[in-house]
Amino acid sequence: MSTEQHLDTVAFTAMEHGTKDDYVLVFAHEQEQLDTQADRVMDWLRQMDGASPYKISRLDHVLQSATRAEADGADTETIVCALLHDIGDIIGTANHSQVGAALLRPYVSAENYWVVEHHGLFQGYYYFAHYDMDPNARDRYKDHPYYDACVRFCADWDQNCFDPAYAHKPLEHWEPMVREIFARNPADVFGW
Ligand SMILES: [Fe+2]
Ligand SMILES: [Fe+2]
Repeated sequence: MSTEQHLDTVAFTAMEHGTKDDYVLVFAHEQEQLDTQADRVMDWLRQMDGASPYKISRLDHVLQSATRAEADGADTETIVCALLHDIGDIIGTANHSQVGAALLRPYVSAENYWVVEHHGLFQGYYYFAHYDMDPNARDRYKDHPYYDACVRFCADWDQNCFDPAYAHKPLEHWEPMVREIFARNPADVFGW
């Protein structure tokens, strides 16, 4: 294999045989992926548009959520979490809260991460009774320091965000905020 080819792809077929040069190449590519993360997040948000059983699309739901968060004076990071709290629907419907939270985790506070991760359970307060589930299941976290924040998130920026009469701001309004958050240095995920 020539040196030029080696610059394009690694030499190994199993990671145990990789050299430092191989991994420099791999991580240069990973950096490109990190640098374009916000582009993919914006694409995933656009995929939330379209028909839904609600009176508004899933995209309009999260736009409404972000708009209400901004109107309540939330900071940029919290607004972006409101915008992205249901993005897990696109790639992991069965556990959408955890998927969205995992996407955000390297870029946001422990509190914002926890709120997004648990919002599905906390939102159940409003509808679990219809499925013979316990609406107060969230109360297992009653003593958790972020319990109140998650209750407020669902009450003020989620369960009420299905209103076609509410004038939310368009996706373009939030794009600079999305780019600001994903331009942050991601936290060391191996240190958790
Ligand atoms: Fe949700
Ligand atoms: Fe939601």
